Amino acid sequence: MSADSLRQRLLELRREIARHDYAYYVLNAPIIPDAEYDRLMRELLKIEAGHPEWVTPDSPSQRVGGAPQAGFAEVRHAVPMLSLDNAMGEDELADFDRRVRERLGTDHAVEYNAEPKIDGLAISLRYEDGLLVRAATRGDGERGEDVTANVRTVHAIPLRLMGEGWPKVLEVRGEVYMPRKGLAALNARLARAGEKTFANPRNAAAGSLRQLDSRITATRPLSFFAYGWGEVDGLALPERHSTMLERLREWGLPVNPLNQVVHGLAGAKDYAARILAKRDALDYDIDGAVFKVDRLADQRELGFIARAPRWAVAFKFPPEEELTELLDVEWQVGRTGALTPVARLKPVRVGGVTVSNATLHNMDMIRQKDVRLGDTVIVRRAGDVIPEIVGSVPERRPPHARAITAPAACPVCGSHVEQVEGEAVARCTGGLYCPAQRREAIRHFASRRAMDIDGLGEKLIAQLDEAGLVKRLDDLYRLKLADIAALERMGEKSAQNLLEAIEKSKHTTLARFLYALGIREVGEATAQNLARHFGTLESIMDASIEQLMNVPDVGPIVAEHIKDFFAEPHNREVIAGLLAAGIHWDSPAHRAGEQPLAGKTYVITGVLTGLTREEAKARLEALGAKVTDSVSKKTSALIAGESAGSKLAKAQALGIPVLDQTQFEALLAGR
Ligand code: IVH
Repeated sequence: MSADSLRQRLLELRREIARHDYAYYVLNAPIIPDAEYDRLMRELLKIEAGHPEWVTPDSPSQRVGGAPQAGFAEVRHAVPMLSLDNAMGEDELADFDRRVRERLGTDHAVEYNAEPKIDGLAISLRYEDGLLVRAATRGDGERGEDVTANVRTVHAIPLRLMGEGWPKVLEVRGEVYMPRKGLAALNARLARAGEKTFANPRNAAAGSLRQLDSRITATRPLSFFAYGWGEVDGLALPERHSTMLERLREWGLPVNPLNQVVHGLAGAKDYAARILAKRDALDYDIDGAVFKVDRLADQRELGFIARAPRWAVAFKFPPEEELTELLDVEWQVGRTGALTPVARLKPVRVGGVTVSNATLHNMDMIRQKDVRLGDTVIVRRAGDVIPEIVGSVPERRPPHARAITAPAACPVCGSHVEQVEGEAVARCTGGLYCPAQRREAIRHFASRRAMDIDGLGEKLIAQLDEAGLVKRLDDLYRLKLADIAALERMGEKSAQNLLEAIEKSKHTTLARFLYALGIREVGEATAQNLARHFGTLESIMDASIEQLMNVPDVGPIVAEHIKDFFAEPHNREVIAGLLAAGIHWDSPAHRAGEQPLAGKTYVITGVLTGLTREEAKARLEALGAKVTDSVSKKTSALIAGESAGSKLAKAQALGIPVLDQTQFEALLAGR
């Protein structure tokens, strides 16, 4: 290839990769499979290796990080980076709104641009002629640190602005953050490597961005939301803050999709309530909502006091982290015998609820976080996870603080506790001899998403267990009215209700039954996949490891657990007992006539004529097939309608059969 056409190819690759970065990291809608992306990247790297003089800072190859720096240079912000005044509670929000209206001399509702307050690290990105030239931390607001090399590794941040109409100089302000899932994966990786883990996403984001070695930053799952701007040269600003954010979005910058213009105090309160309700379900931490007067002319009129604008406020949500005292540690025995250290705490309000217990996960975590009895500890309750201790405050350690040790014997049954090599957890070896394991197994079996035995809760299970009435799961189905009624605080009526609930549970589904058995690592989704794939309990019980591994989501470890479970004669006896007691489910064939597509998995993409995707899905499912959203090597075939995109490419790359509309109709018709 001539140097000219090689260079053309290089530029083409850069544009192509930037487009895929945008689709993947900003829109969360990848266009091509990872393997294809890697191929483009390798081609680019190869060309650049042959022509180092062609490497430019906006090349996607520069996202992998470079040689470590000695330190960070200082950057003076052309426009200072301000902070926000806080409003704690609705009264203070009302005060803010009143002050704004007084200063603007209006009785009307003010329009605010409402945004989530992202819990990360403020950053300023400087684009000159559309090219990212510098990134700096906030520092003291006047001067920050030059973290350009690190910021280049954040894929959600464009190295070159997209679209058109951007000004000669554009400073974008926003928050670098680490998604919760990313933090969990990072911490797991750090823990495996025996390194220190991060207590929360903010620390992780800050720690990652302040790495002197940008190659390390490149391995950290950081992301970014733009929420404002600093210096802008060569553009007449629009009339509204919300319009400018819209521009930023058009230029390829990620802007939070929850941003919204709201009317007046009532609109702001309503927005805050909605965002708070969503808080746990988001993939990133937020610590409040930010309200900004939307009209820029009004912003200018309102101006600033000290370090914060008068036109914006941060409405703070209840904190997700608090300090409290660790009073004691108790060891809870789970269904599989795993011993979990549970911290007993001096009660404290976190994230809007009072917390007096929190998990310490396992012995490794306790050591790693250096937590001792009597310590002041940081409790965190974020997302829908159970409260956890994320660290201690050694400076506040009292002299009487004592080390935490795992018990040598099970606190419930006294059996020997074993620590499996390479596993962080300690396990009680008592099996079903251990009341805790037995009771947990029953509780799981009876739970709503398993056999759904209404009214069979923890207390009642303990009573039944103490009375020796339920030694095995199938004993539940042999309970007599008189036995139950004789229990303390149990009348004839409640006993009758329980018997009815037990009776009702006999009619179930194969998936629920499998899940209820409590096989290690077989959750609801895996149970459903197993049921769909095999169709009958017998075939699952007799399946080989290889056959089990053909099921979506089932890897070698899960397959091993399933095989081990059914190899255990005791388990087979219990299952036989349960079936003999009358537990049954409709066989798939029974339910919808024939099920010729049982065990098959399809993905639907593109536009089908004459039926919606939902209808297509329903038709396939009626024939026993499973329909999923993403193509994997376990997909039986891809149904591709008009203008199919990335899924088609992925199916082709994986060599998965593709059916067009005609072939799909033939499939439905059984031809
Ligand atoms: S606006 C002039 N908007 O909160 C206003 N800040 O206490 C400058 N933050 O340093 C900030 N989400 O790190 C703004 N949607 C948002 C934000 C946000 C998070 C952070 C930012 C800032 C701090 C202010």
